[in-house]
Amino acid sequence: MTRTAIVTGASSGIGGAVARKLVADGYNVMMAARRADRLEALAAELGDSAAYYAADVTNPDDLKALVAATDAAFGQTDVLINNAGIMPLSPMSGRRTEDWDHMIDVNVRGVLHGIDAVLPQMMERKDGHIINISSVAGLSATPISAVYSATKFGVRAISDGLRQEMTNHNVRVTVVSPGGVNTELADSITDQNLRAALESHLTFDFMEPENIADAVAYVLEQPASVCVGEIVIRPTGQA
Ligand SMILES: NC(=O)c1ccc[n+]([C@@H]2O[C@H](COP(=O)([O-])OP(=O)(O)OC[C@H]3O[C@@H](n4cnc5c(N)ncnc54)[C@H](OP(=O)(O)O)[C@@H]3O)[C@@H](O)[C@H]2O)c1
Repeated sequence: MTRTAIVTGASSGIGGAVARKLVADGYNVMMAARRADRLEALAAELGDSAAYYAADVTNPDDLKALVAATDAAFGQTDVLINNAGIMPLSPMSGRRTEDWDHMIDVNVRGVLHGIDAVLPQMMERKDGHIINISSVAGLSATPISAVYSATKFGVRAISDGLRQEMTNHNVRVTVVSPGGVNTELADSITDQNLRAALESHLTFDFMEPENIADAVAYVLEQPASVCVGEIVIRPTGQA
């Protein structure tokens, strides 16, 4: 039977590349994000194996409705890729507390809402795979990444705890932690001076979203008896 994956944050960057890759690999893919116009365009390009649902991951009801729409369109949800995220970096002394709250809402609560929405059916079927996108910022913090790193450390903690809990339910959990990828993520930085400084400071070549999509495909092509726990994937030039 054709397997079905939900990809959050599919309207750009890594999520869009993952959706493309999974359709090419024979999956049905339900794409989610807030910008429905972008999802509609990608769905039209990808054909009948792709569908989309406009959802804000900060709203738990949106995630429940997303899973219901996926099951209605394709029968069931086999894979959830919790990819939606934002990265408004700033030093904590700048006290951009709205950015702090926003990151926690999208990067942590959004992941939890996705897990909550798919777990019942995966546990009942004793089959499923949840892939959470963290970051190398979830392995160590820098002076401007304290809160972003906290959210991505959090995603790794959630993933590791859930993976261990789910061993009795045959549900696999994987965390993918990328380094720099060429996407729109820096657009979420609200401190424009910091953004400019960051861009002139980061001189190595970034990865492309397709590199992360290939890592996700590797995770999913393993036999049912194999659970890839974590993949850390960086540009060669990133220290
Ligand atoms: N790029 C990197 O260097 C890098 C490195 C490590 C980890 N990551 C992680 O990779 C993931 C994808 O990021 P990206 O680099 O592909 O950035 P991106 O191009 O900015 O994509 C982010 C995606 O998240 C979605 N999103 C943001 N807020 C949302 C919300 N409230 N509800 C639903 N969707 C939301 C956006 O869609 P809408 O705006 O349409 O809702 C967009 O599709 C993130 O979790 C990021 O932290 C990226």
